[in-house]
This record gives sequence, structure tokens and C-alpha cells, in this order.
Amino acid sequence: MKYTTNNVRNMFLKFFEQNKHKIIPSSSLIPSDHSNLLFTNAGMNQFEDIFLGNKKFNYSRVVTAQRCLRTGGKHNDFHQVGYSTHHHTFFEMLGNFSFGDYFKKEAIAYAWNLLTNEKWFNLPKDQLLVTVYQDDQETYNIWKNIIQLPECKIIKIGHKNNNVYESDNFWQMGETGPCGPCTEIFFNTSNDKKLYLHDLKDKNKYIEIWNIVFIQFNRIKHNKLIPLSTFSVDTGMGLERITSILQKVNSNYKIDSFHDLIQSIYQINKLNISNNNQSINIIADHIRASTFIIGDNILPDNEYRGYILRKIIRRALLHGNKLGIKKIFFYKLVSSVIRIFGESQKQLENQQKKIENILKEEELQFNQTLSKGFKLLLNEIKNLKNKELDANIVFYLHDTIGFPIDLTQDICHEYHIHINISKLQNIIFEHKKKSQKKKITINNIINTIHINEKSIFKGYKYHIITSNIKKIFVHGKEQSTINENEEGIIILDQTPFYGESGGQIGDSGTIFIKQSIFEVYNVKNYAQAIGHIGKMHTGKIKIHDIVTAKINKKKRLLIQNNHSATHLLNSALNLVLKEKIYQRGSFINEKYLRFDFSYFKPINIDQIFNIENIINHQIQKNVNICEQYGSIHEAKLKKYKFLQHKHYNSIVRMLKIGKFSKELCSGTHSKRTGDIGLFKIISEKKIASGIHRIEAITGKYALHKIQDQEKNILEIKNTLQSNDSELLIKIKKIINYCSNLKKENQILNKEIILNEKNQLIKKIIKIKKIYFLNSETKIKNRKLLKIMIDQLKIKINSGVIILFYQYKKKYIFIVSITNNITHKIQAKNIVEIIKKYTNGSGGGKIQTAECIINNIHDFYKILPHITSWISTYI
Ligand code: SER
Repeated sequence: MKYTTNNVRNMFLKFFEQNKHKIIPSSSLIPSDHSNLLFTNAGMNQFEDIFLGNKKFNYSRVVTAQRCLRTGGKHNDFHQVGYSTHHHTFFEMLGNFSFGDYFKKEAIAYAWNLLTNEKWFNLPKDQLLVTVYQDDQETYNIWKNIIQLPECKIIKIGHKNNNVYESDNFWQMGETGPCGPCTEIFFNTSNDKKLYLHDLKDKNKYIEIWNIVFIQFNRIKHNKLIPLSTFSVDTGMGLERITSILQKVNSNYKIDSFHDLIQSIYQINKLNISNNNQSINIIADHIRASTFIIGDNILPDNEYRGYILRKIIRRALLHGNKLGIKKIFFYKLVSSVIRIFGESQKQLENQQKKIENILKEEELQFNQTLSKGFKLLLNEIKNLKNKELDANIVFYLHDTIGFPIDLTQDICHEYHIHINISKLQNIIFEHKKKSQKKKITINNIINTIHINEKSIFKGYKYHIITSNIKKIFVHGKEQSTINENEEGIIILDQTPFYGESGGQIGDSGTIFIKQSIFEVYNVKNYAQAIGHIGKMHTGKIKIHDIVTAKINKKKRLLIQNNHSATHLLNSALNLVLKEKIYQRGSFINEKYLRFDFSYFKPINIDQIFNIENIINHQIQKNVNICEQYGSIHEAKLKKYKFLQHKHYNSIVRMLKIGKFSKELCSGTHSKRTGDIGLFKIISEKKIASGIHRIEAITGKYALHKIQDQEKNILEIKNTLQSNDSELLIKIKKIINYCSNLKKENQILNKEIILNEKNQLIKKIIKIKKIYFLNSETKIKNRKLLKIMIDQLKIKINSGVIILFYQYKKKYIFIVSITNNITHKIQAKNIVEIIKKYTNGSGGGKIQTAECIINNIHDFYKILPHITSWISTYI
């Protein structure tokens, strides 16, 4: 086939290469860290700074095949996927770009040539038509006069909502950023060549294939556009769409690359070809998206990018469920995706296992949620008195169990059960309102204050400084004074206190003036202000007082040692695990540090020791820890590590530990690694799918831990009277010895039971049709006694057993009845009789009961009474 997906991609790149464009590889699905986008949604994203003139580039003409994801924000196709034949979450966008080089005339000519020239895509000219932005007469004229498109095929598109620059033909990347008028090329798939403007909305008849944007503005606010000094071109054509047209199929899902993938879905799940196409299409789309997102190092999560990934995976799994797929299946499709994309997506190489593992775990986890939900729901349905399921249950399933509302609806539909949707909506609404309110009340002292002040942080250098009180908040309200015993928040113009961020806890300490002391428990950042949270210990403090702010220095030094150790750990992990690991969270206080990171294999003790050795080696080298400020670009060039999810300012703080660690960080750190003293990992565990957590301690805490362990071992050695080299052998010997003893003991017990049983059997008498045993027993071990009674019950099949033994001058009685006669005689009743006549105490159930008596003769006296009682009831 001439126009396979791979060929179309290559032809596009080649066409523009021949026209002096440089082929640039696709960037990641994760946009640069200063972008506002969640995921890369267009080919132009990686060039944003070049369009805006913030960055120079070596080439003025480039061409790309960019991987994109449209699942949120301005360009969101998520809900169309599966129901439309030409939309995807993940797709490849072919694009040519000019940075201040060619403009409208050339861009349109290139596009027209590639689409219609018989050497290239050779599309029939009469099936193409275009839209232009209504104010862009220049573009209109180019189509009309140079390309010579009939006027009826050049459609002007106006403004939306009467807003200038808000139009389908005015393209913008997101809420802000490069934007400009565009002209779009459509393909008419029908035989009806007559065009009516409203027809353009008929997405099956007219397929939008190419968008050519003339970047002329930077949108800095919703209605504020700044003209750019150089004009550029940004074009985008969906690879899957153009391929569907070139392959003359009426759906993207029918092109060669999707066809192969869909075949795998059928085969792996042994589905009939007639199965629901929409669900199959959704699975095909979503496995591509999931593979590529994980390939770009995002993991399923409950927030941010990971949440989108989780949503995509779960939607696919639900459609699998709809198709009746019972086994876990989704991860098995990864190999097909990787095979189909082959050479063109190098970054997926060697990632198959990792991606499969992540998807498998996610699927297993979701299946558990589903089966729990199913069980609950089916049980509810079973117990319904009428044909309506309470909306509260639907909400409970969704909110507490995580069982999707859609699925509850589907199942109820199958069972002809009604759900009151408006009641459900009300519950959801009320719940949202409540949780909002709760958040506000819980945090009302801390989080509801809005502060426009800016505080300067002086704590990198100083532990104590003089400062001016800028604002005081008591119970969330701004006040001019804070009085003795009142709790509140104080804002200073400058402060040595570090506000909780980047995993590092806030400082504590005091703010004071003469005899008035405000005790600071914690410190948080409120936009640009640093809030000191605490209590007025003595006296009062007023607004504009000049105070002294003093942190708890001892505590801070311990915190910063742990923070620097965390950076060392981050680098050591990369070295030892021989893989790029990604930080997923951290917590640092004065006592310990916690570091969460992505890694998909188990970590063994040798690796843990290796990490400790590497870090302690860096500590012993006592290298300098230094900071430097610079632009984010500079930081990237210098290969500083940064957090994937974090939004950084344009000027960043680069923290370097010798040659060993480079991270962007605003936290406080030790001066030299030697300050850390000692590093010891105290625990390593997996906390979620593909996420490990390491907890570690430093300095005196590490030393004390080692000493405690040493003390324990010493005690063990003393107890076992062993030395170091023999300790383990001795422990193993003891374990072995114990297990042999246990075995011997079991054999002996069996013999004891057997002997005693044989003795007791001789004492069994018959009362009418049942058997009766009454005897003292030598077995006093409760476990053995129970085993023996059970065996005796099997032996007699039907009867009453009363056994007793002496315990510290008293007698303990156990009464047991075989199951088949409990409707006539019950153990607890026999015990009641014994108790009554012997002054004993006890009780029990129908089958077994117990009591304790003082004098055995009392029992013998009433024994005839018991036997006659039994014979009466049997
Ligand atoms: N940026 C435009 C789009 O995504 C053209 O590439 O449609």
C-alpha cells in the first residue's frame, strides 16, 4: 500500500525537508515545565518560546510529527472518542513551521502542493474547500487569486459570541500564549459537491484535515493580545485523519495502523468481529494513549496528569467489561502498540515491560473495586422491595467504593431498576457543597486568609533578624493586635522562618518584643507572604511593632541536614537502581526524611546498603553545598533535576552538592555534606503501584538507631551465650530444635489423646438410644481436650459427654452434646443443673458449656439426677 500510516508520515516529513525544513523529533507528551498545558496538545507547543521571541532557534523552517494528547483544557476530544470516527485522545500531528521566515502565501502554497500534487498526496482538487478568518482578507485573496479556488469554496468564519479574536478560525494554544488567525482545509467525502455553510458542521461529510495558523499575537489575558514582532507559521494535520482520506476509508479506526491494533484486541480477547465497534475503538484509542503517556513517565494517580491517565485506563477497562471481557487484558495490547509504531517512536524502545506492569497493576486494582461494587450492588438489587434503587446507594458506591455511576446505571438498566437521577444530582451537589464548607471550617484559621503582602525570606543566611509586623490575623480575621493566649497568624516584612514547602516542614521559634512573646508552631506560605502560625504566649503584639524573629536553630539545622540527605538519596537511587527514577513526594522534618519515587522492581538489601554507602561516602568527602540563581533554561542546560508536576518561576534556585547532585530547590540546606554526619535507611517499602517509599535518618538519630540495634543484638548474644560469628548458626539451630520439638510434641499428643480416649470409651453407657460419658480426664490442655471430645463425639455419634479435671483444688467441667440431639438436650441446660446443685459458676451454648465447682462430691450426688433428666428429654 502506498499510503500506509508510516509512509504518509514519512512523505510529509520528506516533502518539507525537500523544501528546506529541518526535521525535528517529536517532543514529550509532557510540555516544558513552565508551560500552562497539562499535556502537549499541538505540534507548536515545543516551539512556544520561539514563536514568542523568547528564544532563538538554529532553524527558521522546521517540520515535525508530534505526539499529542487532547483530553482537557482548550482542546479536549475525550468525550468524542469512540463516538466520532475522526477524534482521538492520542494522535500524531504533522506540522511545518516557519519562525519569521515564510508566511501566508508560501504556507498555503506548500499545503496545496502536498495535498494535490500527483507525486505526493494527489487528492482531487474539487473535493477540497477552505475556511478563512473573516477579517483576514489577505488569506482569502491568496486562496482565490493564487491557488484559484472558486469563491464558493472559500468560507469566511466570523467571531463567536461577538468577541473579536474568538472564532473557530482564530487559533490559540491555551488560555494564554501564541495565537493568530488560521485557515483550515476540509475534504468533502460525499458525492454531493454543493456546499452549504451549515454543512461544515456535518463532520462525516466534511473532514477538517489541515489547519494553517498565522501566529501574530501573544495572548496574555483573555481579552489582551500583544502583537508579536515577528510573524510565524504553525500548521497541523492529524496523521490518522489524512491517512484515512488517502486510504479511502470512512473512519480513522479503519486505517492500517488501527486495523492491526483492533485485530489484536479481537484476538487477545477472543471476541467476535460483530462485537460493539464503539467499545473496541475506545479501547484501541485508549491503549495508544496509555502506552504513550506512561512511556513519557507519567503514572496513574489521583491527581493532575496521573489522574487523566487513570481516567483513560478506567474508561477502556469499563468498555472491556461492556464487551464481556472477563480476564485482565489491557496490558496485553502494549506490545501491539509498540510493534505498530515501530521505528517512528524510538522512546518506547525498552519500555514495554515497564508499561505492561503499570497497566496490569492498575487493572488488577480497578477490578477489585469493580468486584466489590458489583457484589454490593447486586445484593442491594436482590433486597429491593420495589423497582427503584435509592440514589444514596448509587452515590455511596461511587464516592466510597469508587464504582462508576455509569456502570451502576447500566446494571440497573439490565435489571429494569429505576434510579432517581435528579435526586442523585442533588446528593452530589450537596456533597460538593458540604466538602467545600468542611474544608473552609477546618482550615479557617490557616487557609482562608488572603494576603497581598510580600515577605522576604532571609532564612538561608540568618536565624535571627529584626522585622516589622505587617499583618495580624486572629480567627481568620485581620486585627491590629494579638493578645495574650490568642492563636493567630503573623506576617512580617522579612523573616528567617521557612514556610512549609517542597516537602520541608515549616520552622518553629519565637517572635518577640520586650516581654511579649509569640510562639511560632508552624509556618506556611500564603501566595507571596510568609505566615507565622502560633500563640501569643505572654503580652501582646501590635501591627507595625518592630520585633525580633528567631527560629529554633537546633531544629532547623537538623531539618536542613535531612533535606540535603534527601538530595543525596535522589542521586544515589539513580546510580544504584540504574534507571531514571522520578520523585513522587517527600517529607522532611528534624527527625527523619521520607522520599517516594517511581520504580517498578523490588529493591533488595544489597541495593539498600549500596545506597547508604554511596551517600555516606559523599558525607565523608564533606563537599560544598552551594546555590546559584538562573533562568529555567539555564538550569535545564546545566542538567538540573526538577519535579515533573511543579510549576517553576522563570528564575530558579539551583542547588548543587559537589558533582554528585543537581536539583532545583528552594529549601534550606547544610553548608557541607559533612554536617549530615551519618545516613541510615530505616525502611523501604512499596506504597502503591510502581511507587516505593524510603525513610531514612541522619546524624545523631542514625547513630542512636545503630546503637539500639547493637544493644539488642548484644542482649540476644548474652541470652544465647553466643558470639558474633556463631549467633546466626545458633538461632537457626534453636529454630530447628523447636520445630523438631513441635513435631515430637504432636506425635506425643496424639498418643496421649489416643490412650485417654481408649480409657474413656470403656466408661460410655447407653441411656435409651443415646450414649452417655461421664468421667474425670487426665488431659488438662484445652486444645487437646477439644480434639479428644470431637473424636469422642464422632465415635458415639449421638450422645452427651461430661468430662472434668482438677484445677487448683477446684473442678472444671466440660459438657458437650452431639449436634443431632441439641433440639432435645442442650449443654447449657446440663451446666445449669450442675451449677444449681454444686454452687458452681459457668455457662455456655447449645452444643458446649462449661462450669467450675468446688466439691466433686456434690457432683456425684446429683449425677443420677442428670442421667434421669437426660432420659426424660431424649
Ligand atoms: N496549532 C494548530 C493546531 O493545533 C496548527 O498546528 O491546530
